[in-house]
Amino acid sequence: MNVNGKPCRTIWPTADNQAVEIIDQTKLPHIFETVRLESMRDAERAIMDMQVRGAPLIGVTAAYGVALSMQHHASDAALKATCDMLLKARPTAVNLRWAVEKMRAFLSPLPDSERAAAAWQEAERIADEDVAINESIGRHGCELIRAMYKKKNDTVNILTHCNAGWLATVDWGTALAPIYKAFDTGLSVHVWVDETRPRNQGASLTAWELGQHGVPHTVIADNTGGHLMQHGRVDMCIVGTDRVTARGDVCNKIGTYLKALAAFDNAIPFYVALPTPTVDWTLQDGVKQIPIEERAAEEVTHISGLCDDGQVRSVRLTPENSSAANYGFDVTPARLVTGLITERGVVAADATAMQELKEKEAV
Ligand code: MRU
Repeated sequence: MNVNGKPCRTIWPTADNQAVEIIDQTKLPHIFETVRLESMRDAERAIMDMQVRGAPLIGVTAAYGVALSMQHHASDAALKATCDMLLKARPTAVNLRWAVEKMRAFLSPLPDSERAAAAWQEAERIADEDVAINESIGRHGCELIRAMYKKKNDTVNILTHCNAGWLATVDWGTALAPIYKAFDTGLSVHVWVDETRPRNQGASLTAWELGQHGVPHTVIADNTGGHLMQHGRVDMCIVGTDRVTARGDVCNKIGTYLKALAAFDNAIPFYVALPTPTVDWTLQDGVKQIPIEERAAEEVTHISGLCDDGQVRSVRLTPENSSAANYGFDVTPARLVTGLITERGVVAADATAMQELKEKEAV
C-alpha cells in the first residue's frame, strides 16, 4: 500500500541485510517514523511496546527477530533461547507461535554455520508469503462486497473494528484487503471505523491507512455500531482476528464480540478475515482456552493525542484513585460469525468446514 503515494511495507530488510526497518506505529497518525531493529531484543521490544502490532505482523517481526539473533549466535542453545524469549512477547496472537516454530523447525536440522543466511531467507519468505495470502483474502472478500453492491445498487457500508489493515500485516491487511480490492475495482464503499479504545487502533491506524488510499471512511465512538445497525446504516461487518479455534471461535480486539452480537440481532453479515496461520488447530473452545492479554492500566486511564502546539501528549482521563482493567481481546463464538474469509476461500465458522479448510490449497 502507499504512504504519501509511495509503495511501503510495514517491515523490510535494510540494504546490507544486517537489520530490519519498521514503521513505528505508536507514533501514527501524527508522525511517520521508521525504526531500525538490529537484534532479537529490538524485535521483542518492538512487539511488546506495539511499535509493530496485528497478528500477522507480530509473527513476521518475530521471524526476523530469530534471523537477527542467528547473525550473532547460531548454536542450538542460542536458537532455543531466542525462540523461547520471542514466544513470550505477546500472548494472544497465535501467528507469533506459528512463525517462531516455523523458524525453529527450518533452522534446527542445519549446521550452525548455515543458520544465519538461511534464517534471513526464511524470514523474507514468510514476509512475502504474508503479502500473497492477504492479497488472496482481498480477492475472495471483494466478491462478498461485490455481491452486496449488486443487491443494494448503492454504496456498501462496512463496519470494522481495531486495525486489521496493511499496518497489521506486511501488506494489504486482512479485513481491509477486500475493501482495498473493492475500492480499486471501482465499487462504491464506505467504512465505519470503530475508534477501538483503549489504544485507538481504529481512530489512529485504520483511519490513517484508509485515508492514505483514498477510501471514504468515518470514525465512530466504539458504542455507535449498534445504533447504526438498527438504522440500516451498516451492510456488513469485516474484522480481523488474532486466533481462530478449530471449531471457528474468533478471538479479536476487545469489543469485537459486542459488535458481533449487535450484527446478529440486526441480521447483518459478520465476516472475519484471516490468513490460515491464524487458526490454532489445538484449541476448540475459544472462550475457555485462548489466553487473553492484559495490558497496563495506563492505556485505559490515559489517552494521547496531538495538541494545538503541534506536540503529541498523554493526558489522564480518570480520577487518580480509580483502578482500571485492560483486557486486550475477547472471543466471538462461531455461531455469531457469518463466514471466515481466508486465502483458501470463504468458509463457514464450524468444525466440519474448518477441517476441510485445513486440507485445501490456497486459491
Ligand atoms: O493489539 P493489536 O493492535 O495487536 O490487535 C490487533 C487486532 O486485534 C487485529 O484485529 C488482529 O491482530 C488481526 S490483524 C490482521
